[in-house]
Amino acid sequence: MHYVEGDVAALDFPDSSFDGVRCERVLQHVTDPDRAIAELVRVTRPGGRVCLIDTDWESMAVDGLPEELVAALKGHLYNQVLCHPSMGRTLRRRLVRAGATEIEATPVTCCFADPGATTSVLPMFDARISAATGMIPDGIRGEWFAAVDTAAARNEFLATLTIWVATGRRSYTPSHAAEESL
Ligand SMILES: C[S@@+](CC[C@H](N)C(=O)[O-])C[C@H]1O[C@@H](n2cnc3c(N)ncnc32)[C@H](O)[C@@H]1O
Repeated sequence: MHYVEGDVAALDFPDSSFDGVRCERVLQHVTDPDRAIAELVRVTRPGGRVCLIDTDWESMAVDGLPEELVAALKGHLYNQVLCHPSMGRTLRRRLVRAGATEIEATPVTCCFADPGATTSVLPMFDARISAATGMIPDGIRGEWFAAVDTAAARNEFLATLTIWVATGRRSYTPSHAAEESL
């Protein structure tokens, strides 16, 4: 395995460098996700597979906490923290526009009835989350985690989130198709 750091929207690899590419939970953070997808397609060989995985934060559903508190957190997340909160559901369309073929898009919904189990997917329910992440507004942090604790103590906590997996193939250009038919 060889690790290289770089910007997904400006990959330092020649065209057709890889048989397949996989990009997980990155596109939601980038300024121009379509440019990044174009780069991922560019470095994939014609006929190779592109796999994009991303969260759809706007799908997040919560029960057991006061509705106004959940609304305050969602408003903060969607408007202040996340660059593209509905990225997951857009992956299929973005692959279509990038010219991919054999596109499939699958929603995977995670369901948690224990806030202690949410950490890797929904860190805003974990009291150990650093204030530096900015995920919880400072003004409601105490109230938020008190409500999470209360819901958990009553066994009334529930949170779901849908993550999308979209796959496709880089289409063959006429020249590559001609090469393959030889
Ligand atoms: C939620 S993490 C996902 C990390 C990993 N892909 C995974 O699934 O565990 C988001 C990652 O996106 C990276 N990232 C954000 N903007 C990026 C960009 N323009 N180019 C490359 N990576 C970027 C961040 O550095 C961070 O590691």
